Amino acid sequence: MNPTLAYLLIAVQTLAWLLWLWHHRPQQDTDDNNPLLLLYASQGGQAETLAQTLAPQLGITAHNLDAWHARHPLKALNHKTLIFIASTTGEGAPPDNAVRFTRTLCKQTVPLTNTRYHLLALGDKRYPHYCAYGHTLDRELKRLGAEAASPIATVDNLDPQTIAYWQQQLAAAHGLTISTPAEAPYHNAILRTRILLNPDSAQPIYHLRLDCPAIPADTALIEITIPQPHEQEIRRQYSVAAIAPDGSRGLDLIVRLQTHRDGTPGPGSAYLTQTLTAGDTLRIRALTHHPADLPAEPRPLILIASGSGLAGILGILTRMEAHYPAREHGLKHWLIYGERHPEHDRIYASCLEKQREDGILAWLDRTYSQGNPPQYAQHILETQQERLLSQLEVGAVIYICGSADKIGTGTIDTLRQLLGEKTCDHLTKEGRLHFDTF
Ligand SMILES: Cc1cc2nc3c(=O)[nH]c(=O)nc-3n(C[C@H](O)[C@H](O)[C@H](O)COP(=O)(O)O)c2cc1C
Repeated sequence: MNPTLAYLLIAVQTLAWLLWLWHHRPQQDTDDNNPLLLLYASQGGQAETLAQTLAPQLGITAHNLDAWHARHPLKALNHKTLIFIASTTGEGAPPDNAVRFTRTLCKQTVPLTNTRYHLLALGDKRYPHYCAYGHTLDRELKRLGAEAASPIATVDNLDPQTIAYWQQQLAAAHGLTISTPAEAPYHNAILRTRILLNPDSAQPIYHLRLDCPAIPADTALIEITIPQPHEQEIRRQYSVAAIAPDGSRGLDLIVRLQTHRDGTPGPGSAYLTQTLTAGDTLRIRALTHHPADLPAEPRPLILIASGSGLAGILGILTRMEAHYPAREHGLKHWLIYGERHPEHDRIYASCLEKQREDGILAWLDRTYSQGNPPQYAQHILETQQERLLSQLEVGAVIYICGSADKIGTGTIDTLRQLLGEKTCDHLTKEGRLHFDTF
């Protein structure tokens, strides 16, 4: 080949390659040059909601930690003022959308020079590792030489005063005006009825119907403000069952009277089940709650719950039925519910039976830990392994509701055994394995 032509060809090829590289260069975020960077870590959606509402007030975008880290190396935090809103999940663990970022951060050795940060850590004092993930972030950032622009603020159960104070400090440090916290509005609700669902049981559990037209019908989680006689009020969160034992629809809750080890009652459940009487007013608000998000398309559900976790799965089933009626879409939903005693704890029996007769539930399995033989909800997955596999094959989504250390760990252990670790991870990534646990 003519050498001039060969050189020309090489030059054209090189140019084409450079053009390709230019087109495929990592895309910059529009606010990459902004000295402020707002990052959140959130499991249920509370930290995310706070960050998303704060972002426009700061004129920037909020990113979850892993989504940001997928596009940036950690050194891009240099020379910035970071604003973190981070909740804690599990036993002091980072939320799922912060796991990769945190892994890199903990291994990082290159210092973060001239980096300052504000950190709002969300948590709940009833957990032994209070705001532990926020403290991990704080410790690791300090280790790398970043400077705390304001002290870490730890927020117990979304305490509005702590959030407001932290925002004031943030605003003052940057000469900004930030309006009152990004908070869901409070409403007055009225307790219409309350019934004891298991009269002869050792562990009383109640159905409550509230009346509050301001709360949207598809709300999955509400927060109730509980007045305390001589102390500051407290807040407690409850899943909305959205259906009463008689099958009527409304703002329905299922609340078990909690008793601490020393015999004293839990303040939230005692207030709702003992102190309050029909006609009384209480202060509530709707909260974002991603663990109870419905699938984006009609899919069969596998709903697993124990105890008052029944509220969570009934809420999901009721909202699902409103969006994608089971019979119309040919969906076969499966509900597995574990309680204590087969004689005293058959709560919501006729309601669930009716849902099966109406074709909303294809299968209904109830288990009793004090039955003969004793059986827990997750045991049904073992005895009905074939059904589990065939439902997953046709795209079923699993929801697990109830206490994290009982139904939560019990079910994930069983699923790992039956399906393998990889499949469980895959289901989680696909948004087909939801833990709505507490
Ligand atoms: C399953 C579960 C585990 C939790 N573990 C902790 C914990 O270890 N420490 C803590 O302080 N808070 C813990 N919390 C409370 C949350 O951090 C708190 O409710 C927070 O407001 C949730 O924010 P998010 O919706 O952004 O995830 C836990 C909550 C849940 C549901």
